[in-house]
Amino acid sequence: MDDAPYRITILDTGETYACCGSTTVLKAMTQLGRKGIPSGCHGGGCGICKVRVVSGFVTTLSMSRSQVSEAEEAVGYALACRCYPRSDVDLKVVGRMQRAVKRPFGFV
Ligand code: FES
Repeated sequence: MDDAPYRITILDTGETYACCGSTTVLKAMTQLGRKGIPSGCHGGGCGICKVRVVSGFVTTLSMSRSQVSEAEEAVGYALACRCYPRSDVDLKVVGRMQRAVKRPFGFV
């Protein structure tokens, strides 16, 4: 197992957090106790945790092709619950997860 602590940066918010190589990107986020990070099946099936890896390397477990196509995977799209970092990673949230991460402060 790879337990090196890597830095994950959410480019949408500028937030960073640590994630070791034996923990998924989603699990590390939820362990921070952050509000507004949706967490679904944790099995690569629901797609709520879809992200785009902009820089860095991850290893992914199998993902539902209905959530991440081969073409999307080729350009960095992945499911955070199926990603293990192998370097520092910069990512952007997409889909349903984006709305939660970009939730505005205060009243609208
Ligand atoms: S939490 Fe369902 S696909 Fe990641």
